[in-house]
Amino acid sequence: MQLKVELQSKIFNLRTLTSTYMKDITFFKKLDDLDTESKYLVHKAKDAAQLAYAPYSKFHVGAAMILEDGTIVTGANQENAAYPLCMCAERVALYAMTSLYPTKKIVKMAVVANKKNHKELTPAASCGSCRQVMVEFEERQRKPFEVIFFAEEGKWIKAPSAVSLLPFVFSKENLEGDSKK
Ligand code: THU
Repeated sequence: MQLKVELQSKIFNLRTLTSTYMKDITFFKKLDDLDTESKYLVHKAKDAAQLAYAPYSKFHVGAAMILEDGTIVTGANQENAAYPLCMCAERVALYAMTSLYPTKKIVKMAVVANKKNHKELTPAASCGSCRQVMVEFEERQRKPFEVIFFAEEGKWIKAPSAVSLLPFVFSKENLEGDSKK
């Protein structure tokens, strides 16, 4: 009985927290409703998806970021016959960005995925691992960056930050908390 009550309150808290986080997430009915820079970034992400190496999943994903000085960095998913080695487009782009421009800050990222016909987009939010890595980048640059992706019913979603997409994130604060014990 006690367990059930605890579980219910956890679920309740999760819902409250998620809706708090999500309140600044904007939904757009069509791509044209986004600002010019975001549309351009989506266009770059679509181009990047063409460069995916995805012979196993046939699922092509592209990510494009704009940095504070206007530099664009893109990435596409890279697969491997040893499946767990596959790398998502977002992390390809993020790790390339930090290797090439370690001092620059990310302003915005757009992510798109193609349908298996490679012609139309299919809704896909970044996976949890990528969101976790994105949050690490926000912490490193001490600034959030916007994340845009294509959602169900042809809508576009713009989140104000990666952390807004990852309630209960694990961060270096958790590690620091542990060391104080
Ligand atoms: N993929 C991404 O590139 N980004 C995501 O956020 C989710 C999944 C890729 C990984 C793999 O190559 C393919 O999509 C199928 O999971």
